Amino acid sequence: MLSNVKGMNDIWPVEMPYWQLIEHMAHKIFTNCGFGEIRTPILEQIELFQRSVGEATDIVQKEMFTLEDRKGRRLAMRPEGTAAVVRAMMQKGLDGNGEVLKYYYIGPMFRYERPQKGRLRQFHQLGAEIFGTTAPLADADLLESIWFFLETLQLKGVELQINSLGDSTCRPPFRNALLAFLKRHEKNLCADCQRRMQTNPLRVLDCKEEGCIKIVADAPMMIDYLCVACREHFETVKNLLNASKRNFTVNPRMARGLDYYNRTVFEFVAEGIGAKSAICGGGRYDDLIESLGGKPTAAIGFAIGIERLILLLEQIKPLQPVAPDFWVIYMGDKLADEAFKLATVLRREGFSCHFDYQSKSMKNQFGRASKANARFALIIGEDEIKNKEVTFKNLTTGQQQKFGRDQLQNHLKTLLGKS
Ligand code: HAM
Repeated sequence: MLSNVKGMNDIWPVEMPYWQLIEHMAHKIFTNCGFGEIRTPILEQIELFQRSVGEATDIVQKEMFTLEDRKGRRLAMRPEGTAAVVRAMMQKGLDGNGEVLKYYYIGPMFRYERPQKGRLRQFHQLGAEIFGTTAPLADADLLESIWFFLETLQLKGVELQINSLGDSTCRPPFRNALLAFLKRHEKNLCADCQRRMQTNPLRVLDCKEEGCIKIVADAPMMIDYLCVACREHFETVKNLLNASKRNFTVNPRMARGLDYYNRTVFEFVAEGIGAKSAICGGGRYDDLIESLGGKPTAAIGFAIGIERLILLLEQIKPLQPVAPDFWVIYMGDKLADEAFKLATVLRREGFSCHFDYQSKSMKNQFGRASKANARFALIIGEDEIKNKEVTFKNLTTGQQQKFGRDQLQNHLKTLLGKS
């Protein structure tokens, strides 16, 4: 039997209330916060991710789904959304245009990771990017909008961790200090990290190997090397968060798994998806656009993992698919077209209404109506047709009533409180 690709799940109607709630709130909140929605393709040139996410990262080294098209061009299924949005805005000539630009996106991302709870090979992100400002206020405003979004979903036990990764002034001295430290421990680092030391020593900081984690616990920290401008930026962001009464902790060990970051980086972490794990990650990437050949354009953004968010939501908020208002029940195939007509009229009036395509026993039809949690049954038999009536049954109370067909819509609207 054919089966799905490992780590790439089907999403069924019973799960949809969570997806629809998240997507609805995302559109609402991020539009209110001044972001416009952008949709970029799933396939991009592989080089985009190599040059942005970084050659030495796990994402590029081990996790990308890549393919060659018929002309031998090397493509990658996007492992994240930022690089694609950056590519799109540069291609449109919006880099360095002096304006602040704000975009959000929702869509599937692909990483060849070992699947487990909250970790998939096809997963979905809700992300947003702000271009064209170095203002710490943008950092605070972005974090505030994420907080507001998570709060609206009534999530509990979420914690914000922040750090600063400095910039091109203070990163080199830190890199040297880190490299000197790593050289002293080189023998005990994993093979990947011994290689990373040559390509990008900062990547050793987010190695997942036990041995390396223990070693880097004593490594120098970027936060101790921040230049005056980066320190001021970080202090202002912290002050703004305090002023908006948002709790956070500084995690000086946070390195993030992508190369493009500078200054503020952050993660929202939560219990309840196995180990404490990140439901959201992001930060500044002021130098990325220039490094890709664009005009200097500061930027900051985040992405939330939707599947991880749903794992948390399921624990606090059981959601059911929307139940139909009506189920039309009819007696005998002869009346199928009457059921069809009635359902059509009701749907055009804005009600949700289902019926079976083949006449089954009344018991069977009532069974299907109550399984779907329909609120009311509308019953049509020979008598109802003859008298131009419909029998109406409240499936919760069992109360039954007859209405003339010409009165039906008005009665139902009053009943369901629709004008
Ligand atoms: P990221 O930290 O790699 O950042 O991913 C963001 C979020 O996506 C994670 O916190 C997690 O919730 C979710 N996620 C990542 N990998 C998986 C997976 N395999 N399965 C399920 N969920 C996953 C980025 O992607 C950056 N583009 C964020 C950003 C935007 N930075 C600046 N702008």
